Amino acid sequence: MTIIPVHAAGCRYDVVVGPLANAGRRLRELARGRPVPAVTDERVWALHGAVLADLLPVEPVFVPEGEAAKAWDQLRRLIAWLAELNLDRASPVLAFGGGSVGDLTGLAASLFKRGCPVVHVPTTLLAQVDSAVGGKTAIDAEDQKNLVGSFHQPALVLADVALLDTLDERQLRAGYAEVVKYALIGQDLRFDWLEDHGPAILSGDRLMREETVSQCITAKARLVEADPEDRTGVRALLNFGHTFGHAIESAAGLGTVLHGEAVAVGMALAFDFSAELGLCPHADAERVRRHLREAGLPTTLADTGVDRGALLPLMGADKKNEGGSLRLVLTRGIGDAFVARDVDPGRLADFLARAA
Ligand SMILES: NC(=O)c1ccc[n+]([C@@H]2O[C@H](COP(=O)([O-])OP(=O)(O)OC[C@H]3O[C@@H](n4cnc5c(N)ncnc54)[C@H](O)[C@@H]3O)[C@@H](O)[C@H]2O)c1
Ligand SMILES: [Zn+2]
Repeated sequence: MTIIPVHAAGCRYDVVVGPLANAGRRLRELARGRPVPAVTDERVWALHGAVLADLLPVEPVFVPEGEAAKAWDQLRRLIAWLAELNLDRASPVLAFGGGSVGDLTGLAASLFKRGCPVVHVPTTLLAQVDSAVGGKTAIDAEDQKNLVGSFHQPALVLADVALLDTLDERQLRAGYAEVVKYALIGQDLRFDWLEDHGPAILSGDRLMREETVSQCITAKARLVEADPEDRTGVRALLNFGHTFGHAIESAAGLGTVLHGEAVAVGMALAFDFSAELGLCPHADAERVRRHLREAGLPTTLADTGVDRGALLPLMGADKKNEGGSLRLVLTRGIGDAFVARDVDPGRLADFLARAA
């Protein structure tokens, strides 16, 4: 079991990487003898609900699977349900599922009675390595990814890699894209280590998965601590591949291309664009695309089937932009990403028109 403390925005919480059963006492302490509302989906509950219910009394509420959970109507339903339970603002709400369940639950918890604690028990690789930590919450609105959200740090995060054994291949690979991201932005994980061990991580080696999750969370915790509300550009590195990626998700129709898949294509494009601008070696771009492909991930716009003409406006509308100039995370090579604040939209349009 590994415990990673996170200090962010005036709070401190632990991320426990290890068997859920070992964290029962911590959960019961937070619950203070009351049943804990647990937001989940039918699939996750059917597969793993019993593990959670063995630890403490929980009251599950079900939301649709995947991106469909990140919607106004689900937020309204959740808040109504918390009101019906008459939850007081010191009682925690538990998010038991992937990043979508976590994003929705975190937002509801941040709003309910001006904020009640949220505990994340992430059940996908993506949520364990990334979304459960750091306090970003969101729903999609007006066809835009994460348009409505807040920062709300969790009270506790429990990441048990045993839960990942039931994850289907596509979801697993999508989560692996975020793992690769940490290596590409030069945090903790080394890219050559992933080239060697990626197949073991994907095929289910528990020790390797635990090590990977711990390393990713350690990296994320450091970036979040340095820039909790994504203002100075430090945390923005975690958005590597995401400006392209979010535009791809929106252009494809939210929920069609998985977030991790869109990020994989986005990272490959960020490398290609950086290489085209003379910032990074073409060989690095090729090496990254090869690794993502070997991991079974899409790496080109053609793989996603999106209308490339739709991308630029979506990237232009991206909230990462400041004062009109386009901000993108670009790279000088593997492990050397940086925030470029004055990207020429014309150059980007030209690149997107020709990109693979
Ligand atoms: N808040 C953040 O910092 C942050 C970071 C990265 C991504 N995200 C968001 O996370 C979302 C993607 O999350 P995701 O990739 O976890 O997918 P998801 O939550 O959208 O969907 C997960 C799917 O896998 C199933 N599933 C979950 N756990 C399972 C298990 N253990 N076994 C079998 N099936 C299981 C679910 O039923 C669901 O169908 C996106 O909306 C993305 O924007 C947020
Ligand atoms: Zn992401």
